[in-house]
Amino acid sequence: MVQITGRPSNPRGPRLSDDFKLLEWDSEFFGFPVAKILGPAPAKLERTLVELRTRGVRLAYWTRAGLSGQDLATLQAKGGILVDQRTTLERTLSPASAEPSTNVTEYTGESADAALISLAIQSGAYSRFRLDPKIPPGKFEELYSQWIRNSVNHRIADKVFVARDNDSIMGMITCKRHGEVGEIGLVAVNDEARGKGIGTDLVKFADSWFFGAGMKSSRVVTQGANQPALQLYLKCGYHVTQTEPTLHFWLS
Ligand SMILES: CC(C)(COP(=O)(O)OP(=O)(O)OC[C@H]1O[C@@H](n2cnc3c(N)ncnc32)[C@H](O)[C@@H]1OP(=O)(O)O)[C@@H](O)C(=O)NCCC(=O)NCCS
Repeated sequence: MVQITGRPSNPRGPRLSDDFKLLEWDSEFFGFPVAKILGPAPAKLERTLVELRTRGVRLAYWTRAGLSGQDLATLQAKGGILVDQRTTLERTLSPASAEPSTNVTEYTGESADAALISLAIQSGAYSRFRLDPKIPPGKFEELYSQWIRNSVNHRIADKVFVARDNDSIMGMITCKRHGEVGEIGLVAVNDEARGKGIGTDLVKFADSWFFGAGMKSSRVVTQGANQPALQLYLKCGYHVTQTEPTLHFWLS
């Protein structure tokens, strides 16, 4: 996703706030101005919200580690909707990570087929874009469909791996290199095929690809409420490195 900062390109122009970023990609996708709140302490938030409203921003995201229960209560009293506890998990890769898993192969189709799109939408079951009741209808599904299309065409992922039962795709995982760190993007297993080890096979396959391609560690971000996903990653050797509450502020 492309993001533009609140700073003007002309340094002599009016100085914008360092407390937020206007999000170009998100604004275009939703069809109204969207911003991300950056720095202010919760006590300074009111001023930032006033500035965002003045600029016509309709939706602002706020993700920040280390908020106390009192901070969260204050933010919610100011209209923030707690939509997620963004949870980052990481693991160090080792030769053991390179053990091959069965039934998983690279997806080589030119575009995402219906099975992959369905899995991408399932992978967002706990997404803040699905859980926030104010997100316009259809937008969550459209977002995750675009995510898998842009993964298959390699704009935002290097590899898409799938688990098949005969010819049917039962699960998928997307992978991206960030230097020496491998990042898992989307993961899902078809509803009726869960609990049979397919998710484990997919994560292990991704880790073996990361390791084989020279990456030293891997990372995944999921939602704090997503117990099946959290348990899957813990079982595969990941540990939680950060938990950040995420709120949405609707300003008009
Ligand atoms: C998360 C998901 C991919 C797991 O796939 P799966 O094939 O069912 O996973 P596995 O069968 O390999 O299970 C691996 C471990 O995950 C945990 N797990 C799986 N389902 C679980 C559930 N419903 N509740 C709690 N833990 C669960 C267990 O620890 C399990 O190990 P065990 O079988 O030894 O107890 C699947 O539930 C899914 O597609 N969920 C919806 C999409 C999603 O949330 N994706 C994650 C986005 S970050």
